[in-house]
Amino acid sequence: MSTTTLAPRLHDVLRGASIQQQITTMIDDLIARLPNSERMSSEERRGMIARYTAVLEGNFIYWMSAAYLAVKSEQVRPILLENLHEEIRDAHPLMLRRFAVAAKAFPTDTDALEVDADLTKVRLFLGKLQGVPIVLMMAFFEGFIQKFMSYLADLAAEQGSDERVYTDVHGVCDVEHTQELFRALSLEMAHHPVEADADLFEGVELLRTLLQTIIFGPAK
Ligand SMILES: [Fe+2]
Repeated sequence: MSTTTLAPRLHDVLRGASIQQQITTMIDDLIARLPNSERMSSEERRGMIARYTAVLEGNFIYWMSAAYLAVKSEQVRPILLENLHEEIRDAHPLMLRRFAVAAKAFPTDTDALEVDADLTKVRLFLGKLQGVPIVLMMAFFEGFIQKFMSYLADLAAEQGSDERVYTDVHGVCDVEHTQELFRALSLEMAHHPVEADADLFEGVELLRTLLQTIIFGPAK
């Protein structure tokens, strides 16, 4: 193998590692800012679970489907399909609904409308069907969800619920999902790179804003 073929590959690997590190740092920053659940009021805890449910229950499969439609690399599609398959086969939206109902935090119309503006921005971004930025957003999402699960379980426990199927399943399976999405990202970047001036982090930034609204409530 000549150095001319090795060089771009090494560059891709290093670039992928750097992007993964940036995403991990963004997730860890958000997790570090989570409010202490014991110092929150019951209504604040209920609101966070409800806003999370309002976004995740109906959108996760939609967003992963958008990633599937957007990618162009044949090697990437099976990775995303496996994720979708598991979501539907194991009825993950049902797990989340049960979790929210058990914590008496099923979203009201007010909860849903509090996340509406930020959710709309994410949906419109997905509609542009840009493979690499969407897969990056989903890698950020899976990585966040996995690290958020024990906190979400604690919130529900403080609300008097012992329903933990959703949080137990996602604290474990999303570790592998996150790694698989980073593998999907490097494959898509290698075979169908974005334009030099494209904003790779557009979806990540929009999703981070939405997650902040879920966690802290709408800006007053
Ligand atoms: Fe899931």
